[in-house]
Parts: sequence; C-alpha cells; structure tokens
Amino acid sequence: MHSALRIASRQATTLRRASVFGLQAARAGSTWANVPQGPPVCITEAFKADSFEKKINLGVGAYRDDKGKPYVLPSVRTAEEKVVNAKLNKEYAGITGSISGTGALRIAAAFLQRFYPGDKTIYIPNPSWANHKAVFSDAGLKVQQYRYYDKNTIGLDFEGLIVDIKAAPKGSIFLFHACAHNPTGVDPSQEQWKEISEAVKAQGHFSFFDMAYQGFASGDTDKDAFALRYFVEQGHEVCLAQSFAKNMGLYGERVGAFSILGSSAEEKKRLDSQIKILVRPMYSNPPIHGARVASEILNTPALYQQWLGEVKEMADRIITMRSLLKSNLEKLGSRHDWSHITSQIGMFAYTGLDAESMKKLAKEHSVYATMDGRISVAGITSDNVGRLAEAIYKVKG
Ligand SMILES: Cc1ncc(COP(=O)(O)O)c(C=O)c1O
Repeated sequence: MHSALRIASRQATTLRRASVFGLQAARAGSTWANVPQGPPVCITEAFKADSFEKKINLGVGAYRDDKGKPYVLPSVRTAEEKVVNAKLNKEYAGITGSISGTGALRIAAAFLQRFYPGDKTIYIPNPSWANHKAVFSDAGLKVQQYRYYDKNTIGLDFEGLIVDIKAAPKGSIFLFHACAHNPTGVDPSQEQWKEISEAVKAQGHFSFFDMAYQGFASGDTDKDAFALRYFVEQGHEVCLAQSFAKNMGLYGERVGAFSILGSSAEEKKRLDSQIKILVRPMYSNPPIHGARVASEILNTPALYQQWLGEVKEMADRIITMRSLLKSNLEKLGSRHDWSHITSQIGMFAYTGLDAESMKKLAKEHSVYATMDGRISVAGITSDNVGRLAEAIYKVKG
C-alpha cells in the first residue's frame, strides 16, 4: 500500500514535470515515442506570439464586430435568458442531432460510407474547406476534386466544373457549398446553379450540400438557400450538413443538423433508425444548450425576425469592409484589379496573393491569414482597414 502510494506520487511528479517542460522529457521507452509531431491546425499561434499592438488576425473563421471583438447576437442573448429562466432539466436529448456543421458532415460521411450503393468516392471542389478532405477520408470515403476556382480570373471555373461533373462516373457523390464558398468566396450565379443541376441530374449524381454560412452571403437566408431548394424542386436526392455556428454566432455551442431526403415516410423511418445506430457509438447524443437557444429563435416569430435582421447586419458589415478595403487599395494607387474583393461573397475573400506574399504580410506587417491567400473579411474593421490596405499595397504593389 505504502509503496503503491509512493509510485503514484512519483508518477504525479513526473506528470507535473512533463507538463511544465512541455513533455520534452518524454521517456524513450514511452508507448507514444513514435507518435510524430503534427503540423499546427490553425495560424493563431503565430498571431498570439506577435506582441505588436496593431497586429491583425484575418485567419479566424468567426465573425468579429467593428471593434474586432467576438459578437454575441442580441437575439441569442434573449433566447438564452428564456432558456435559462425556464429552468429546464438536463436530461439527454434524442440520439439524432448533430455536433455543429463538422459533426453533421461526419455523420453524413459515415452514412454514405455505410449505405451509399454506388462508388464511395466523394467529389469536392478544388479548393475546399481544408477539413472536408480530413472528415471524409477519416470516415472511409475516397476523396476526389472537381474544378471550381480559376486563379487567372480569381473567379469560378464554370466550364471546368461542368466538364468534371459530366466526366465523373454516373451516380457519383458531389459535395457543393450551398453558399459563401470557403475559402474562395466565389459562388455560382442562380443561372449557373440551374446548369449545374442539369448536369448533375443527367449523370445521376447524388448531391451533398454543406451549408455553413446561410445568410452570410447575401444577408438573406432565403436567397442563400436557393441552390439547395432548387435542387430539391428539381427532384434531386440530396443530403445536407447545416451549421448554426456562424449565422447564430453559436460557435462553441456546436449546433448543427444533418438532413437527408427520403422518398417516403417508410423510408424516412429506415434512414432515421440507421442514423441513430451510427450516432450512438460516436457520441451517443448531442449537447442540448445551444440547440435549445437555436430552437427558441427559430420558433418564436418576433425573435426569428430579430435574428434575420442581425444576420443581415453581420453580412452588411462584411460587405462594407470589402468595399472599404478595395477603395483604400485604389486610393493608394495599386495597379492591380481588386474587383474580386467586392464580387466575392461571404466571410472570406480569396485575395489572389501567393504564399510568399502572405508570409511577408505576417512577418513585415503583422497581418496574419492562411498561406493560400484567404483572408477573413470578418476580421477587418473601420480602424484596421487602412493599415491592412497599406500592408497589401507594400507587398503586392
Ligand atoms: C465550409 C464549412 N463547412 C462546415 C464548417 C463547420 O463548422 P462548425 O463545425 O463550426 O459548425 C465550416 C466552418 O468553418 C465551414 O467553413
């Protein structure tokens, strides 16, 4: 007993020391000695390490207000108060229900991997949100890309996209960003969506929509749902991964939904039963608090109207920052065409700056964003837009 206690206490000391020294003292014979160091999953480390007061973080995928601060929507505050005041119990939610957009994507991927009758390859746009490939391949799907972005026009490679849809084997799975494509901010027009729908239908492909930014593209949640609704109207079989992280600002609450269209009530029952079987061993059931807040907003007419207005305000601030950045660059005499900054939509702008320029922006100007040239427009404010334009001008001319 005594020696067991001593061993336990020695282990505790080792653990304390290990955490103090950042695990550098890992024992050679450790079970985990062969676990390699992975690359950082976000750029916030370099941003945090920079002590410059006016540093700018354009890497975060979260909305910021015009003071650069995280924003809790007033409709969310009201809904939350109602939920708290209702003194509800903390019983488990039903099994179905997703852990935000990523959870919904993961359930969808697992479902397709288990039940999709055709080839288990998913076609995603090139480029796409970096996590798509990771989520889909971790769930056992093969991942291929279709043409999407044309770096010469800094716009949509529509011809390439259509050719690739037609060239994929019949009955393939295609992932589409419903609106506000991440990372490019480039969306097809409504007319182009109609042509995409036709090509998808002719090939009998299955359409999978990822809708993480409904409302952020145009400021109007109906307009941003056009592609998905049009596909359903046209008789496509679709599934949908939805996130309320951005449009309700519920990031850390992890509120999302996975939906799949069945052809009858009987089919719905079968699909539902299998989704439960998939979710149960993954995380058993979803968290309740954020879902209650979202549900309160969606089901209370006055709060719902208020929320629509707040989504529009966020989208409008982003649109204003786009024009300010463009006009500041023009005022500085930049010889580049920056019209893509205002033609692209949603939270992100794909500047067209290469990795070298992005490194310079970080190193010489304390402006941090991803190396692919994507900037989060939500990180731009009335205060920092001038300095940002100057930094870009100095790097790119
Ligand atoms: C395209 C896209 N899909 C899904 C997500 C999922 O987000 P979350 O899991 O935070 O809801 C994101 C988040 O950045 C995204 O950009």
